[in-house]
Order: sequence, then structure tokens, then C-alpha cells
Amino acid sequence: MPKIDTRGLFEDALKGGYSVGAFNVNNMEIIQGIVEAAEAEKAPLILQISKGARKYARHEYLMKLIEAALEISDLPIAVHLDHGDSYELCRDVIDGGFTSVMIDGSHLPFEENIALVKKVVDYAHPRGVPVEAELGRLAGIEEHVDVSEKDAIYTDPDEAKEFVERTGCDSLAVAIGTSHGAYKFKTEPQLDFERLEKIQEKLEGYPLVLHGASSVLQEFVDECNKYGGELPGAKGVPEHMIERARKMNVCKVNIDTDLRLAMTATIRREYAQNPENFDPRKYLGPARDAIKDMVIHKLQLLGASGKV
Ligand code: G3H
Ligand code: 13P
Ligand code: ZN
Repeated sequence: MPKIDTRGLFEDALKGGYSVGAFNVNNMEIIQGIVEAAEAEKAPLILQISKGARKYARHEYLMKLIEAALEISDLPIAVHLDHGDSYELCRDVIDGGFTSVMIDGSHLPFEENIALVKKVVDYAHPRGVPVEAELGRLAGIEEHVDVSEKDAIYTDPDEAKEFVERTGCDSLAVAIGTSHGAYKFKTEPQLDFERLEKIQEKLEGYPLVLHGASSVLQEFVDECNKYGGELPGAKGVPEHMIERARKMNVCKVNIDTDLRLAMTATIRREYAQNPENFDPRKYLGPARDAIKDMVIHKLQLLGASGKV
């Protein structure tokens, strides 16, 4: 199966009211676990690579591993740059075979974000590559966002419309209360669905993206803590909120933390239960299986199962 870009995936997802899972990849076992899950579920798939992943594993290794997955499976897979932080990085990965890119100018003032995204769009579109941009900031747990601050930090629906029109970006990551990592909420999880609804209304039929969407599954947090980890109070986005979001034009849901937790919990358990083992395959294999099971669960939640 050839690599595909995200445009067709999003069109179908919008029509069907489901989300495509975008999973961060860093090594062979993670790629294998995710691809096996998507194959089992017959689900469309986005594999995304961050600047850090590229630095860790090298562009060439990750691309060859994904090419192997495409050769072995008959799954359509998009290869996406996660949180591109410069025009040059986006240009390099487009030239290097990625099928879609994110340029993240969310930390910049509005006009500067627009100028940066537009520059990337002007390079990407003639080469058939769609562009994801981000407007609004994903606050961390240390930042308590009260009602008055929400307007300053979260995505403004009117600005979102102007931003998309002026940049020509193909999908937009929105800030409605999610954040990256394993500590998303100090108290009860809350997302600003009213805001999401307004964005959906302003950007009719347009693909939205939810970053920081891991649920921080309790079973993995408990397993980590049981076997020597220290993740007190880790908390993610409740699954019912993801289900609600996917029916509101959120057609790409980003997951990294849940993969990290599944892998770490399993490796910790294997080390603790089999102290005599020193064959990496005997702990990386179970970690790959744990990723596969977790991703199957996620694809079902997203409504993506059976959509290929
Ligand atoms: O949003 C960030 C992703 O979880 C990737 O993280 O930059 O550590 O690879 P990373
Ligand atoms: P999580 O940290 O919630 O997995 O979010 C990942 C993400 O948004 C990658 O861009
Ligand atoms: Zn992100």
C-alpha cells in the first residue's frame, strides 16, 4: 500500500463522525504495535514523527521502518510531522517523504503565526502535502486556567476562521483545555465543548485536531507505580470526552503519552517479574503487544475501526 496524505482521511472522517488516530512513533516496536492494531481493526492510520523522534531515531530509520510496514500490510498510512517548529524542518521532511506536516506557531503572535503557516503552505501545497496549524495554547497543569483566562489562551472561534482563510492550512489544532503529557488536570477534567461547538460552526465542514488527547489509562499508571514508577496523580482526558469531540469535526486525535505508559508499564513489570532475563526481546515483545492492545481499544473509541 502506498503512503497517503491526510486529506482523504479527513474527508471520510468528517462524513462519518469519527476520528483518525495519530500516534507518535520513535522506534520499531512502537511502529509494529500500532500498525498491527490498525490492521486488526481495519482502521486508517496516521503515524507521526516529532522533531525529537527524528533526532532520536534518525529520519532514515523511521522512514524505512514505515516503508516496511507499508510493504507488509495493506493499510493506508499517512506519515505526518508532529509540532514542526520551523519552515526549514517542514521543507526537509516534505522533501524526505512525509505526506503531511504540522507547523506549530501557536506560541507566536497571531500575525506571525499566520505568516509562518502561509510560508509552509506555499511550499507544501504545490508538492501535494497538506498542512496542519495550531491556534491557541495548550496550557500545562501548572497553569490554572480560570474563566477569564480561557479567552486569552484557548482558540478564539472568530480568529480561527480568519486564520484558516488567510493561511490556507488544511486542518487546525485547537486549544480547548487539553495539554501534553500525563498530568493534564489537577482536579476534575474539563474541556471547553461550548468553544469547540462555536469553532465547528465558524469552520463548517473543516477538519479539527485535538492534541494532548491521551486518556492516561489508569491500568498503566497503576502498573508503573506498582513496579517502582512514580506517577502520582497522573490524569488524562476521560474517554467519553474523546467520543464527544470526534462527533464535533475533530478528525485527528493525537496520542503519545498512552503509548509511552503502555510500554513503560509493561517493561517495568517484565523486569520485576523476570529479574534473571537479559534478552531485550523478552520485554520489548510484551511491550509491543501492550501497545497493540491499547491502540485497538483506542481505534474502537475513535470510531475508526472498520473504516478501511
Ligand atoms: O506533543 C509532543 C509529543 O508527545 C512528542 O513528544 O517531542 O518528546 O517526541 P517529543
Ligand atoms: P498526549 O501527550 O496527550 O499523548 O498528546 C500527544 C500529542 O498531542 C502529540 O502531538
Ligand atoms: Zn501535540
